[in-house]
Amino acid sequence: QLKNNTIIVVLGASGDLAKKKTYPALFGLYRMGFLPNDVKIVGYARTKMDDAEYHKRITSYIKKPEGDAEFDGALEKFKGFSSYISGGYDDSESFANLNAALEKIESEYKSKGKNRVFYLALPPSVFIPVAKHLKEQCHVAEGSNRLIIEKPFGKDLESARELLSSVKEHWTEDETYRIDHYLGKEMVKNLLVLRFANVALNAAWDKNSISNVQITFKEPFGTEGRGGYFDEFGIIRDILQNHLMQVLSILTMERPVSFSAEDIRDEKVKVLRAIPPIEREDTLLGQYVGANGKPGYLDDDTVPRNSNCPTYAATTLWIHNPRWEGVPFILKAGKALNEAKVEIRIQFKDVTQGIFKDISRNELVMRIQPAEAVYLKLNTKTPGLQTRAIPTEMDLTYKRRFTDAKIPEAYESLILDALKGDHSNFVRHDELDVAWKIFTPILHWIDGQNGPKPTPVPYPYGSRGPKEVEAFITKYGFKRQATEN
Ligand code: BG6
Repeated sequence: QLKNNTIIVVLGASGDLAKKKTYPALFGLYRMGFLPNDVKIVGYARTKMDDAEYHKRITSYIKKPEGDAEFDGALEKFKGFSSYISGGYDDSESFANLNAALEKIESEYKSKGKNRVFYLALPPSVFIPVAKHLKEQCHVAEGSNRLIIEKPFGKDLESARELLSSVKEHWTEDETYRIDHYLGKEMVKNLLVLRFANVALNAAWDKNSISNVQITFKEPFGTEGRGGYFDEFGIIRDILQNHLMQVLSILTMERPVSFSAEDIRDEKVKVLRAIPPIEREDTLLGQYVGANGKPGYLDDDTVPRNSNCPTYAATTLWIHNPRWEGVPFILKAGKALNEAKVEIRIQFKDVTQGIFKDISRNELVMRIQPAEAVYLKLNTKTPGLQTRAIPTEMDLTYKRRFTDAKIPEAYESLILDALKGDHSNFVRHDELDVAWKIFTPILHWIDGQNGPKPTPVPYPYGSRGPKEVEAFITKYGFKRQATEN
């Protein structure tokens, strides 16, 4: 399915995203043999530099694993088909220039057809002019044209609609690949299989069995160095509205008719449409303060003094459909916490009392990262002559079960999908629209658009989050168990 005669153009080639994600992923795909034959990679950015300097940068973007004897040779080959051209983001000449460079590469093709993939590793301020100029100057008639873009897609419903429709003026939905990199994560992709390929799980997947669900994102570092950017967005736009909502929609959607991109995304949109906007009462906001020698959010010079930007948020969503009516879905995300962890925790209802008393609830945990795992907390009889139930775990830790498997990076998986033309793991325009509808009212409230701004509660850097979180999740029926950590 990979097309010959492909050029991948990375716009914003000297920026952070290209450096941290795009180039390492392209190199990773190359090493696994998943780039098209004779592919060419063209970096594009404002910085003026020659190919030698560009190659030096590529070398610095890609880390060499210890003891990897073939790495250097592979990197040399990778650089051999990577070149660079500099240009602006808002003048047609620059793009005509880029087009000429692409045509030069294409003049050597031995077969018909040209396939151009434009990866916009760019800030949103230039999305629209770049999309326009690319369409006008670099769109080929004979072959395929693909545009890969990534959040932020606007700041609320209105601005997202504006951005989306401006891009749509130039690029069709079919040509557009909107990345939410959580959709490229192994465990997120596994949700479809876990849910729909297992009768045992599927049977318990509703309000009759499930008491509450938490989807949690924890990062052990603050916004140091990114404060200026972050302050405009906050944790809800950064993590909840996109990454956690994507996880939620796959976790709760009905079974798609097929694995086709449209069938899957139809179901995701359907379930999201059953969720009303989040209420203020269902929201807890936090902001980290300095502790243990680490700076607080407001200590960052790039952050406005007195900013009320949340670096932690817990919100509860309700899905009004027959499967999920009454089940609280708690989304929690925070920066500067005690650990790095992303997980889904499904807590089942209490077992009928009578023969049992104070027995632990079942919980199914899907750990997205680090160390992918699925485990089910079960009650079991203590081995021996007594009949007493104790909580234990049925544990599928990937590292132990799939010892030889290499789990791909999210960006590797997504770039490969885009090269194949598979949209299943990209965000459709209406998914975004409905996700923004759910979050826009509380975002406007936080931004002070309809009255005084709420004040986030403080939590120390490196802690588990605001101390109020415990009461918050308890309010929605979560019961902490003895084995809970
Ligand atoms: C990004 C956010 O989308 O996701 C970052 O902008 C965050 O703030 C990152 O750190 C987390 O991604 P991952 O893959 O490390 O969980």
